Amino acid sequence: MFVRTASERDLEAVKALLAETWHATYDAIYGVERVNEITGQWHTPAALKARLSQPNSEFLVADDGKTIAGVAFAAATDDPKVVKLRQLYVLPAFQHKGIGSMLLEEIEDSFPEANTLRLEVEGANAPAIRFYKANGFTEIGLSNDCGATGSGIPALVFEKQLG
Ligand SMILES: CC(C)(COP(=O)(O)OP(=O)(O)OC[C@H]1O[C@@H](n2cnc3c(N)ncnc32)[C@H](O)[C@@H]1OP(=O)(O)O)[C@@H](O)C(=O)NCCC(=O)NCCS
Repeated sequence: MFVRTASERDLEAVKALLAETWHATYDAIYGVERVNEITGQWHTPAALKARLSQPNSEFLVADDGKTIAGVAFAAATDDPKVVKLRQLYVLPAFQHKGIGSMLLEEIEDSFPEANTLRLEVEGANAPAIRFYKANGFTEIGLSNDCGATGSGIPALVFEKQLG
């Protein structure tokens, strides 16, 4: 399994990965219908494609030559010292094999000028919270706009100091 920058030809696989992993992670929390609605809005080919050319961002996939098993997307905020990890998803069958840690490490190395990596995580998503704490993040507050401005989805805000 290796981590590399995503390209346009990965986008169909990334979309399918996000749909499968979102259902596995969030159906029990938000319900199937709401998950369908959110993935349908946020993970369109156009939305994913726009990331490929977003400045000061990093869009990574974990690939074993056959399967895109993980995806990570991070982008600098208005403050270039603060980078936001907007997505980190590993297909359920590939979780707990070190892929999430590999993607996270590569994201951290991709923004040498940043001193803070920030993310939002659903408060009921205990495995992800455990993963982030084990990887050096601490909880710093709450958000009401998880995923998109005005989404109304509450989340915990975590940060990790870099460098
Ligand atoms: C959270 C997530 C990104 C972590 O990715 P992952 O590839 O499973 O992460 P890793 O394998 O690096 O680490 C996960 C656990 O497996 C353990 N692990 C790592 N390599 C392992 C191996 N070879 N054998 C057994 N366990 C291993 C790690 O110690 C870690 O334990 P922890 O959760 O207690 O810290 C992934 O599980 C995921 O996509 N979850 C669903 C979606 C989600 O919640 N994403 C985050 C949204 S904010």
